Amino acid sequence: LTPKKLAKTRILVTAGPTQEEIDPVRFISNHSSGKMGYAIARQARLRGAEVTLVTGPCAIVPPYGVEVVRVQSAAAMREAVLARLETTDVVIKAAAVADYRPKARAGQKVKKVAEELAIELEKNPDILGEVGRLKGKQLLVGFAAETDDLVANAKAKLARKNLDLIVANDVSQEGAGFNVDTNIAKLLFADGRIEDVPLTGKQELAGIILDRVEQLRKAG
Ligand code: PMT
Repeated sequence: LTPKKLAKTRILVTAGPTQEEIDPVRFISNHSSGKMGYAIARQARLRGAEVTLVTGPCAIVPPYGVEVVRVQSAAAMREAVLARLETTDVVIKAAAVADYRPKARAGQKVKKVAEELAIELEKNPDILGEVGRLKGKQLLVGFAAETDDLVANAKAKLARKNLDLIVANDVSQEGAGFNVDTNIAKLLFADGRIEDVPLTGKQELAGIILDRVEQLRKAG
């Protein structure tokens, strides 16, 4: 039986992709299935935490016993996260938020007339960056999905977004990242420590991340 080590801890987890609408039938998104974030929500619940799962559109079933907040766009995810920040102890951002959205959403389905079609994009808000700026006592865990320079890029995100821990996954590696049941990660801590987690199930990785969260909370 898993000891209830996170009892009375309020954990907000984000998961899945965001979808940025082009018109009523099309959107820009990515390959996130939600498996990583849902695994964290499930393991946190099993450890006794009060869990809120803010999730983009996913085909998988949310874990039992967690509050589920469904959103579509990055803007909606931002609102859902910020509205709950004050009543949260730990924020874990596993969602793959779209970095850009169409500048304008067409009210009607875009017709197949032009030979070439350009869609102008504008930057989405960086939710994790904003939470990093606003954070008080909350512990903040981010993810970094990289295809090159894993450690250097993750280190830069850890510092820029004011995180306590970042889970870096090289999504170009077989068995890691998007839409698989396993992952390969490096955990980078604010004090400079780096922990390697070789290929393992996402449920197991979720457990390791939560063990570290618990240790950081005890130390802080
Ligand atoms: O869902 P799965 O199929 O299981 O796949 C898991 C995963 C690959 C999605 C997951 O392991 C992962 O890496 N999630 C983060 C994906 C990502 O968007 O990484 P990033 O390096 O672009 O972003 C860095 C961090 O900032 C992330 O915590 C992200 O949630 C956050 N972010 C990014 C952009 C943005 N506009 N707002 C954010 O909050």
